[in-house]
Amino acid sequence: MSAVNFYDDSLRAAAYETVGVEGTYAIAFRELALILARLPRREAALDFGCGAGRSSRFLINAGYRVVGVDIAQEMVARARRADPGGDYRVLSGDQALDGLKPAMFSLVLVAWTFDNVHELSEKRQILTGLRRVLADDGTLILIASAPEIYTNEWASFTTAAYPGNRAAKSGDVVKIRIKGTEDARPYEDTYFTDADYRRVFGECRLELRATHRPLGYASEPWNWISEKATAPWAIYELSKPRGAK
Ligand SMILES: C[S@@+](CC[C@H](N)C(=O)[O-])C[C@H]1O[C@@H](n2cnc3c(N)ncnc32)[C@H](O)[C@@H]1O
Repeated sequence: MSAVNFYDDSLRAAAYETVGVEGTYAIAFRELALILARLPRREAALDFGCGAGRSSRFLINAGYRVVGVDIAQEMVARARRADPGGDYRVLSGDQALDGLKPAMFSLVLVAWTFDNVHELSEKRQILTGLRRVLADDGTLILIASAPEIYTNEWASFTTAAYPGNRAAKSGDVVKIRIKGTEDARPYEDTYFTDADYRRVFGECRLELRATHRPLGYASEPWNWISEKATAPWAIYELSKPRGAK
């Protein structure tokens, strides 16, 4: 598992806890709602990398029974505090998902978690575990930062202080800062291209049903900077190939 998790830090966790379904993030949640509306059933969902519970609460409000899991105790503590009746668990170790029953979730959400999973091999290992707990007719939705996020300015993020991002190649560290939080330190993400993601999905026998790259709308109440022309997020909709186990 990741050697460094920048979220297991009380200043960072406290700052991230204040980030809601707003600004640049709102674009992804708007698209997520549209994807969920097309799915046949709203039952058990796994929120992998639930953080302070923002994405879990979004699924709960959409009608799912949610298990939220995360490796950062600091974040899970905040998810529990915001939703004392919810099911939030701290994962530890490589066998972390083994306690979950096979095929028990009709939906698995991975929302921004993979920006902080630094090795391709680790992404592969996690996706293999998530595939096991995904129902045969279930949907896995992975929301990732698009490569373009690291070289533009956004309503919710700045990258201007990190010109090194422009030369980033697959697997390199890239930096980005969330605007308007107490934590002025950048997030150190790992740069992954669309081709990287597609390769891992294939290796993990996950079929890519659709890729969504939503833009900001002029009618939305946020001060868009790049959002109307450049998609900040890549949202992958995946499933097990038909007939596969
Ligand atoms: C950017 S936050 C997103 C949190 C939440 N999904 C949301 O939308 O607010 C990413 C989270 O992924 C978690 N994370 C990173 N690597 C992980 C791993 N290997 N297993 C589980 N969680 C992980 C971090 O601890 C952090 O809480």
